[in-house]
Amino acid sequence: MFARPTGRRLRTHLGAGASLGFMPRGGRTRQPTPLHRNPACPIFHAMSLPPGFLDELRSRVSLAAVAGRKLVWDARKSNPAKGDYWAPCPFHQEKTPSFHLDDRKGFYYCFGCHAKGDALTFVRETENVGFMEAVEILAREAGMTMPARDPKAQEKADLRSQLVEVMEQAAQFYRLHLNMAEGARARAYLQDRALSDEMITRFEIGFAPDSRTALFQHLTGKGVAPDLVVQAGLAIKPDDGGHPYDRFRGRIMFPIRDSRGRCIAFGGRALDPNARAKYLNSPETPLFDKGRSLFNFVPAREAAGKTGRLIVAEGYMDVIALSQAGFRDVVAPLGTAITADQLRLMWRIAPEPIIALDGDKAGLNAAMRLIDVALPLLAPNQTLRFCLLPEGLDPDDLLRAQGPGAMQKLLDTARPLVDLLWQRETTGRVFDSPERCAALDASLKSALGRISDPIVRNHYAAALREKRHALFAPARDRRPPDRRPAGGRRSKASPPRQPADSTRASLLARGASLPQTEERLRESVILSLCLEYPAIVADFDTALEKLHFAAQEHDRIRDLLLDHAPEHRDDPQMLQKKISAELGAQTLEKLLSLRHVRINPAIRKRVDIETARMALAEELAKLEANRGSAQEVSDAMQDIAGLVDEGLTWRLGQAAEARDRASRSSLPEGGTEAEDRENLSRYLQNLIDSQVWVKKKH
Ligand code: UTP
Ligand code: MN
Repeated sequence: MFARPTGRRLRTHLGAGASLGFMPRGGRTRQPTPLHRNPACPIFHAMSLPPGFLDELRSRVSLAAVAGRKLVWDARKSNPAKGDYWAPCPFHQEKTPSFHLDDRKGFYYCFGCHAKGDALTFVRETENVGFMEAVEILAREAGMTMPARDPKAQEKADLRSQLVEVMEQAAQFYRLHLNMAEGARARAYLQDRALSDEMITRFEIGFAPDSRTALFQHLTGKGVAPDLVVQAGLAIKPDDGGHPYDRFRGRIMFPIRDSRGRCIAFGGRALDPNARAKYLNSPETPLFDKGRSLFNFVPAREAAGKTGRLIVAEGYMDVIALSQAGFRDVVAPLGTAITADQLRLMWRIAPEPIIALDGDKAGLNAAMRLIDVALPLLAPNQTLRFCLLPEGLDPDDLLRAQGPGAMQKLLDTARPLVDLLWQRETTGRVFDSPERCAALDASLKSALGRISDPIVRNHYAAALREKRHALFAPARDRRPPDRRPAGGRRSKASPPRQPADSTRASLLARGASLPQTEERLRESVILSLCLEYPAIVADFDTALEKLHFAAQEHDRIRDLLLDHAPEHRDDPQMLQKKISAELGAQTLEKLLSLRHVRINPAIRKRVDIETARMALAEELAKLEANRGSAQEVSDAMQDIAGLVDEGLTWRLGQAAEARDRASRSSLPEGGTEAEDRENLSRYLQNLIDSQVWVKKKH
């Protein structure tokens, strides 16, 4: 915990649970130990407050009422009718009133000692409580229910770092055993699959000996608690209470690392062809959520930085084989269908990941299902491509059979998502009746309805219309091709694909990029605060880790921050130097010189750590809130039955614009953000209430 600024005379000390009822003025003798002094008290977690909570709190609470209990207003100077109050300052010794309070704005300022703040600051300073306690006290007073707190958050973080430690030890154990006598068969197998030593080292491939407790005994022998080995998913504890045994036995082991390079799981390939499962993965643990992880994330991100591309393969061996062949910008999901979270991870790496599909029916089916996961998430610069491998081959097979050139060729012919969507809706169907054509239209409309980004949706509508024309045109013109008039419909059906400059510069298109810009700026402020006050990073560890950054370079900075901030808690210069060493000096310079960063009060001048922490909490909350409203728009759009009429498109455009307005006006002070957000909510609610669209049938 940090020392609070001293030298201010505090009138009262209240425990966090004490009420704000009438307090006798003058010195108090009894000073209970405030709860927040307990070092175990978890530090406030911004993300535990729902978006808008603080704004709501500030608007409900009267600062004059809160401060009035501690102060004696100067009757001559004050003007309550105007919300204008003066009193002797509670923060320094004085006889004449220089403490000024503006109840309408909810701010106070002392002309003597320059103390200033809002109701929250006032309670924190006069009650000597932490930020969260102050929120609690005021919330109770305002009749607002506090969101449930998570006192276990810190414990969880501690457990996770312990588990990572255990996983690293296990990885080392497996690596060692690959090179021991018992690993001979595994080494032979890898050689047989033509895996180079370089790849074995690079991917830290290991071997789990075929023994019931080799790893368990090794780890516990080194002092690791048996329960941790089980919690890490490395050993299984039988239900009958018997001794835990190793989960992975007689398998080639692939460590799975998260976006910060920490070992969070393993995949193990059986050597025995008769094994029950060819591949066995770690179970879900406090470290590992398989739907939110990708194999080879960090190396792929690095490689994609150069290529601007990302390949998505199906399995571990594909990733390794592709890497060996020079395609290092490759990831794989972990034995399950690709989830929305995994798509978001991929988009953190590249705007248009190429899904490399097994060329069999299962592969194609998986792709068709993936379309449904992706549609609601599509955005400008956020989509997928698909490349179909020859039937029965995975990338590993293809590389071995035909070499890297063949793979490259396939990648070059990767098809856009809209093509697969079209294929899905039309393949195997015959449109020889009006009803069948109508059924196609209906299914296309329903697919369109699931695209939540209005601009992307418009372009999908146009692309599908074009394909539909092409499909139906020959059927309408019953004359054989050689007898049809030249030109005409056909050439019309394929307009130039390059958007005209006027389209690109249209209001709608420009509007669309605004929330992104806004988010980037907000992100820059968040990162800059962390860079300037590394000591607060630990408090927001989880929140930062979970943050989905709109800007890719921010992602890198975040990871480096989380890695290096702990050792440079009190030395921002050193921290920045270290991060610059990895990213190049320009990246941080650019970030810190952004106007929105420079004008942030906590960056402009040195503030105490509490204030910095508060600033970061607020920025995180605002980013959340912004995304909340963006989500609101897209949620509303997903409710649409799928009919894309002109009017609806226009209205949705309006909604998007309202959203953009909301985010635009929130910079730099953010004063009117809540208001705008409220307007937006109301606006959307109106749209929904007036049933401009038909609700989805459930
Ligand atoms: P495949 O069966 O296609 O294996 O599974 P592969 O990648 O070609 O493996 P090799 O070449 O035979 O060694 C693809 C992925 O599906 C998951 C794994 O993640 C694997 O990489 N899988 C497969 C499992 O999780 N369990 C299994 O039993 C099989
Ligand atoms: Mn394979």
